[in-house]
Amino acid sequence: MKNIPVIMIIFGGSGDLAHRKLYPALFNLYEQGLIHDNFAVVGTARRPWSHEYLRQQVSDAVHETHDEVNENDLAAFTSHFYYQSHDVTNVEHYETLKNLAGDLDNRYSAQGNRIFYMAMAPRFFGTIAQHINDQNLTSTGFNRIVVEKPFGRDLASAEELNKQITASFDENDIFRIDHYLGKEMVQNILPLRFTNPLIKNIWNSATIKNIQVTLAEHLGVEARGGYYETSGALRDMVQNHIFQIITLLAMPEPKDLTSKSIHEAKQELLDSMIVPDEQEIAQHFVRGQYLGSDMTFGYRQEPNVAEDSNTETFVAGEVKFKKGPVANMPIYFRTGKELREKTNRIDIVLKHICTPYGQAHSNNISIIIDPDMQIFITINGKKITEPGIRRENLDYLFSKQEQEKVPDGYERLLHDVFVNDSTNFTHWSELKNYWKFIDVVEEAWQKENEEGKQINQYLPYRMGPKAANEIFESPTERWIYE
Ligand code: BG6
Repeated sequence: MKNIPVIMIIFGGSGDLAHRKLYPALFNLYEQGLIHDNFAVVGTARRPWSHEYLRQQVSDAVHETHDEVNENDLAAFTSHFYYQSHDVTNVEHYETLKNLAGDLDNRYSAQGNRIFYMAMAPRFFGTIAQHINDQNLTSTGFNRIVVEKPFGRDLASAEELNKQITASFDENDIFRIDHYLGKEMVQNILPLRFTNPLIKNIWNSATIKNIQVTLAEHLGVEARGGYYETSGALRDMVQNHIFQIITLLAMPEPKDLTSKSIHEAKQELLDSMIVPDEQEIAQHFVRGQYLGSDMTFGYRQEPNVAEDSNTETFVAGEVKFKKGPVANMPIYFRTGKELREKTNRIDIVLKHICTPYGQAHSNNISIIIDPDMQIFITINGKKITEPGIRRENLDYLFSKQEQEKVPDGYERLLHDVFVNDSTNFTHWSELKNYWKFIDVVEEAWQKENEEGKQINQYLPYRMGPKAANEIFESPTERWIYE
C-alpha cells in the first residue's frame, strides 16, 4: 500500500468512538503501510491530557482490540500522536491547533494534507465547521472532513450543517460516515445482485413479493438515554443505516463501479422515493417503546429519559419507489432495542407460483449481516420416500477464518477516506431525500402525540409490539423472521 502523508485532527480524541474504533483502525492501517512515516494524529478534547497520556490511551485501545500486538510497531505508531486540549467554541484554541498542525506538517512532511474527523457530540459539528472556515484551518494539500452521524435532526438542521461544512469543503471532500456501509454483507449486496443471473433476473416487482430489512438489537439504550431522547429509533437507525441498505437493494444497476456511477444510480432511485401521506403512515408504520422486566428497566426508567417519554425505541414501516427494478413493491423494515437477539438481516420474499405439485413454499433469499455473515436461499425438492415436496436451504457460508479476516467497518471506511474513495459514504443529495421522508413521519407522530395517542409498549426480548405484524399491504404477507 502507498504511504499517504497526512495530518489528521480528531475532534473528540478522548471519546468512546476514538478509543473503541478509530485508534485500533488507524493502527491496522499503519501496520499495512497506508500511513507510516509521514503522518501525525492530533487528538483534541476539553480534558487537560498530555501527549504521553493520549499515547497511553491509544496503546490501551489497540491492546483491547488485538490478541497479539507487535510492541515495537505500537510504540512507533503511538509516537505520531499529539494531544491538544481544545474548547470548540474558543477562537484562540483554533489558532493554537492551526499552529500545531502546521508544525507537525513540517516535521512529518505531510504535504499540507489534512483530514478533520468529527467524532464528538453532534451538537458541536456546526460550530467546529464554522471555526475551521473562519480560522482557516485547511491547508495547501487535500482537505477532507469526516462527519459522524447524526447529520442534523431534520432536513432544515441538516441543510444548515451542510452549509457550514461546504463553506470550507467541497462535496467530494465530505465523508459522511455510515458504519453499516463498511459491513461485509452490506458491501456484498451489489455483487450478489449483479453478478448472479439467478438473482439478477428475478430481482423485479413481478417476481419478488416484498423485501424485509430487520436490524434488531438485544441491548437497550444503556448509558445513551440523553442522546436517544433527542433521536429515537427512526432518526438513529432508519434515516441512515436502513435507508442506505434499502437504497442498495432497490437501486438500478450502475453503469460501472466508480463512486460517481454508484451514487448516480442511487440518486436515480431516490428521486422516485414515495413519501407516505398521513393515512399511509397510520397504516404501515408502528412505533414502540420497551417495558421493563424483573431484571431490567423499561425505557422510561432509564437514566436521562423522561418519565412520560414518547420516544420510540422500535419502529417498523414501509418504503416504496416509483422507479427501479422493484418499483411499487413494498420494502418493509423494522428496528428496535431490547429485541429477542442481535440480528441484522435482509429477507427477499418471492411470490408464490401455481405448481402441479399443489401448494409449495416460495423461495426466499436471506442475507444475514450480523452477527454471522451468511446468505441462504430456501429451495424446494422432492421428498425421498414419500410423495410431496420438501424445503431445504442452499447456504453460502463464511468459515470462521474468513469471518475473522473481515476488517472492521471503521478500518475499511477510514482506508477509503485516505485513498479518497467516497463510494461507501452518504452524499448530500441522498441524505436530503432520507430526511424528507423522516420529517413527514416525525410530523405525523408529533400530531398523534398532540392528540394524546400513546406509543405502543412492548415486552423486552421479543420482536417488538404486536401491531408491527399488521403493517403489511396484504393479509398474505408476514415477517419471515419471526
Ligand atoms: C448506531 C446507533 O448507529 O448503530 C446505535 O446509534 C446502534 O444506537 C448501533 O446500537 C448498531 O450498530 P451495530 O453495528 O452494532 O449493528
